[in-house]
Amino acid sequence: MGDQLRFDGQTVVVTGAGGGLGKAYATFFGSRGANVVVNDLGGSFKGEGKSSKAADVVVDEIKATGGKAVANYDSVTDGDKIIQTAIQAFGRIDVLINNAGILRDISFKNMKDGDWDLIMDVHVRGAYKCARAAWPHFRKQKYGRVISTASAAGLFGSFGQCNYSAAKLSQVGFTESLAKEGFKYNILCNTIAPIAASRMTQTVMPPDVLENLKPDWVVPLVAVLAHSSNTSETGGIFEVGGGHVAKLRWERAKGALLRADSSLTPSAILAKWDGVNDFSEPSYPTGPANFMELLEDAQKLPSNPAGEKLDFK
Ligand code: NAI
Repeated sequence: MGDQLRFDGQTVVVTGAGGGLGKAYATFFGSRGANVVVNDLGGSFKGEGKSSKAADVVVDEIKATGGKAVANYDSVTDGDKIIQTAIQAFGRIDVLINNAGILRDISFKNMKDGDWDLIMDVHVRGAYKCARAAWPHFRKQKYGRVISTASAAGLFGSFGQCNYSAAKLSQVGFTESLAKEGFKYNILCNTIAPIAASRMTQTVMPPDVLENLKPDWVVPLVAVLAHSSNTSETGGIFEVGGGHVAKLRWERAKGALLRADSSLTPSAILAKWDGVNDFSEPSYPTGPANFMELLEDAQKLPSNPAGEKLDFK
């Protein structure tokens, strides 16, 4: 027991903790000494309806095993109320797990504004509202941990999920910016792209696969990232599920350098298309290319050759 990661005295807010991954996080943190705010609106996976039951069941479960937990039934779009519950019940907030989510799968051809707006509201505005309300507490106490939830659908795209993909990739940019702003206040922020059996995935994956994708297999990474012993891992993106954990990063091709003058035409770019796509000597950027330096180098080049080359070969 001595080597367990513990969260005694800390308050952990888990959004969407009434089921699936959120429930697994909440019960874990409850079993490791944390005060847990179990937030859940209690609606359907499409974001319809609401009920206090989902959160209550999890709170009862945590309390039954000797843990400390309170329920909150607000939507994440009212994130300030969720953080208020943490402050009122426990006097502090240390960890925010932005986990609540819904789906509105539909082909782009048939997508309505309502399908788009609801997904953006819950995932983008919801994560923003919760983090925004927690931020002053984190800064004041010079401590905070934020875990945001992206998805493979966001990182790689997914048929029928343009709305969800856009919302999920937003978590990466959002969280990486939070990481940059938070670091000097010891606020560390990471994004996970999980895969786990839940009501969200039960209709799209066969039972034998789901059997090996327990939400419990995602929890340990979240615990590591959320713990105070993590003093440096921030701004990361992690794939996690079914026993696999891997960090993702950007890769930049060698690229093409062209003189920036009127000779920089579409055909000039096509003539150097191989370089644009050349990943034989990649770099792994954590920021934009050094445009000042590249511009200087580009201006040393002769004008780009004239002539129309109109294919990609
Ligand atoms: P789930 O449907 O079991 O759990 C989501 C929970 O969020 C539900 O209990 C729901 O009531 C709650 N919720 C929905 N809207 C809410 C709102 N506005 N305010 C408060 N609570 C709300 O789904 P699952 O699979 O546990 O998903 C958890 C997160 O992980 C989601 O963000 C999801 O998009 C993401 N995810 C899950 C994957 C998986 O394989 N299960 C894959 C990639 C991402």
